[in-house]
Amino acid sequence: MTRAAVLEAVNAPLTLTEIELPEPGPGQVRIKLAAAGVCHSDLSLTNGTLRQPVPAVLGHEGAGVVVSVGEGVTTVAPGAEVILNWAPSCGGCHFCVRLNEPWLCPHANDATTVPYARDATGRALYPGLSVAAFAEETVVPERAVLPLPAGVPLLDAALLGCAVLTGYGAVHHSARVQAGESVVVVGLGGVGLAVLQSARIAGAERVIAVDVSPRKEELARACGATDFLVASESTAKDVRALTAGLGADVAVECVGRAETIRTAWGATRRGGRTTVVGIGGREEKVSFSALELFHFARTLSGCVYGNCDPARELPVLAEYVRTGALDLGALVTGRIGLADIPDAFGEMVHGRGGRALVVF
Ligand code: APR
Ligand code: ZN
Ligand code: ZN
Repeated sequence: MTRAAVLEAVNAPLTLTEIELPEPGPGQVRIKLAAAGVCHSDLSLTNGTLRQPVPAVLGHEGAGVVVSVGEGVTTVAPGAEVILNWAPSCGGCHFCVRLNEPWLCPHANDATTVPYARDATGRALYPGLSVAAFAEETVVPERAVLPLPAGVPLLDAALLGCAVLTGYGAVHHSARVQAGESVVVVGLGGVGLAVLQSARIAGAERVIAVDVSPRKEELARACGATDFLVASESTAKDVRALTAGLGADVAVECVGRAETIRTAWGATRRGGRTTVVGIGGREEKVSFSALELFHFARTLSGCVYGNCDPARELPVLAEYVRTGALDLGALVTGRIGLADIPDAFGEMVHGRGGRALVVF
């Protein structure tokens, strides 16, 4: 039996349950988790902002060791250290093959709709965001498994699977930050902090961190922020004051609310670029005037999993970890057990800390 944190229904509390995992079938891999980060998207599944079939074992930012593999699996063998890819692309569609942009694959969430395990009463369970990392062990499709390059500590490596791939990709592939540019980052959870570190790697000159919670300042500066602002009605004006009256070259939004998307957009210069990483609800509507579009000639982009191919990007990130340019430890502000995930959600809601890491 395997201990797991299960979401029974939207708005129900997580329950710690023993689950029964099958042996991996053809094309599947069984993994013993070492660690799993608590991401806002897990909280968004519990409150209905994001939806998938339930009951589901949540958790999608995981690292662990392969226990066994099913028939036909070739990329990993038992004993391999791996991280989990929560958006396993199909490898065969227009986006995967023709465009070589697997983050846009419409099948990336297909595995969430197929039961993968049972609870003690025999009830079918679905894998949260395909990988179900809030459990001692999991069984996932081979394409959800990425071999961990050498030299990266296994526990902290979990963060590569969501916050860091997303944050790094947002900076390097979506916003394409250039050396010397100014970057404003709105929302400083695990994702925003990874964006700060990535902006530093890109050689951004001014990195302005913005959060509603003043408690984030120290963490933000440790991750490369040159300035810190408490979010307010005057954030856009405050950013202009720090950028010679112009506004930032780039804004990265890491909250997922209309209000913060608007703030990020308003903080950029004429011709500035805003990338939205945060995942907001259907009811969040952002507005701007048609005239404003002409006047400022800004761009606004969505961003999925950092708009990058996790398999291609992981070796790049691992090299930054080895050289110290990426400091995964600086993102982790709590090491917790499975039973503490609801507390970690509470800390998130109150804007405290960086990433909480469930350690198994
Ligand atoms: N203005 C500025 N910052 C805000 C505001 C606001 N109005 N509201 C919340 N924040 C801050 C919080 O204080 C917190 O520091 O945004 C941060 C969000 O951090 P987390 O909750 O830890 O979220 P994280 O896991 O980093 O994910 C960020 O990216 O992948 C998506 O679904 C994810 O939408 C979420 C976003
Ligand atoms: Zn995530
Ligand atoms: Zn595809």
